[in-house]
Amino acid sequence: TGSFTYDPGFTSTASCESQITYIDGDKGILLHRGYPIDQLAEQSSFMEVAYLLLYGELPDRATLDNFSYTITRHTMLHEQLAQFYRGFRRDAHPMAIMCGVVGALSAFYHDSTDITDPKQRMIASHRLIAKMPTIAAMAYKYSVGQPFIYPQNDLSYTGNFLRMTFGVPAEPYEINPVIERAMRRIFILHADHEQNASTSTVRLAGSSGANPFACIAAGIACLWGPAHGGANEAALNMLREIGRPERIPEFIARAKDKDDPFRLMGFGHRVYKNYDPRAKVMQQTAEEVLKELGISDPVLDTARELEQIALNDEYFIEKKLYPNVDFYSGVILSAIGFPTSMFTALFALARTVGWVAQWNEMISDPAQKIGRPRQLYTGPTQRDYVPVDKR
Ligand code: CMC
Repeated sequence: TGSFTYDPGFTSTASCESQITYIDGDKGILLHRGYPIDQLAEQSSFMEVAYLLLYGELPDRATLDNFSYTITRHTMLHEQLAQFYRGFRRDAHPMAIMCGVVGALSAFYHDSTDITDPKQRMIASHRLIAKMPTIAAMAYKYSVGQPFIYPQNDLSYTGNFLRMTFGVPAEPYEINPVIERAMRRIFILHADHEQNASTSTVRLAGSSGANPFACIAAGIACLWGPAHGGANEAALNMLREIGRPERIPEFIARAKDKDDPFRLMGFGHRVYKNYDPRAKVMQQTAEEVLKELGISDPVLDTARELEQIALNDEYFIEKKLYPNVDFYSGVILSAIGFPTSMFTALFALARTVGWVAQWNEMISDPAQKIGRPRQLYTGPTQRDYVPVDKR
């Protein structure tokens, strides 16, 4: 009943009004609440960006201190959750663990989260932002068989995460400021990206009034796929498989071959038909981190050369395929010491800020309704049931 448009992949359907993030895909512009992404990545802290996305304005000093204090009050996980981790196999993918643990948080806070109360929605949002680094670091520690490291609240958001990930009880952990800055940039570059698949999933799940922790678990599940958040892992695996610059033409040819499902991972975007502004900051950060760590990784040479060849290739020019945020991030994360399986978990950690901001915006929007797409039915017309022995 009624009329509607058929729009697979929602390429031309706006599902909501939003004041959070603006993208001009043709010009390669990304603004959060009006501020350009490169200025935020260069100059602000992750807490400032989190506050900006959630509340709409950059905080003054006292507000920022207060916000940071509030977030750090929630960094610990209920001790019962440590038992929950132990139920997973040691080789479980961190995204599988994150889906499970974040979903499980709903069991701890279900009764105290009345989503019709804006204050309670903010507390749930603060809890999620605060606990994600702890959850992701614990997933890593579990996989390598090291003890969980508790959060240390006098460190920065990223410094605390690095310590919980790479620190061990046996010795003090020294934070390298170049790596801390790189992580901060990576988190800021991933914080929000308007109505991407996982954010739309969070909004859709939340539109029924579901518990926010369960909604974020749904977002994590969606982010996991190689066409979305899993692309950073896939991009690094691809660069490693290519191995050396001489093999690039072979892979470019495969990417162009219609009969070959292979795509250049870290290339192309639904919205950007120009250079992804996040990829620029990422490339610069990759150069800085490798220099600081004294690593000369052939993967970075391969990435640089692959980018140049693709940018000058007719197929990529015609289809407007440029490097996206995931193209260089894997090179940085691997140099810092993260296994590839953690890459998407870090994306989820950072994107949680955008997810909760968008979820809050949706719930407080008076035009909000349960998300319920229509379909074009293409199955059989009505027919009569035939008993099993007569078929
Ligand atoms: N390599 C080769 N060809 C490509 C690529 C690529 N990476 N991306 C798109 N194309 C081609 C595609 O074959 C299609 O050709 P044709 O029109 O002849 O059928 C055309 O370009 C348009 O592609 P599409 O799949 O219809 O476009 P989309 O908007 O549905 O997909 C995308 C966008 C990001 C899923 C896609 O570009 C892709 O699969 N890229 C590789 C994965 C990746 O890097 N994903 C990360 C996205 S950014 C981070 C995030 O949002 O999570």
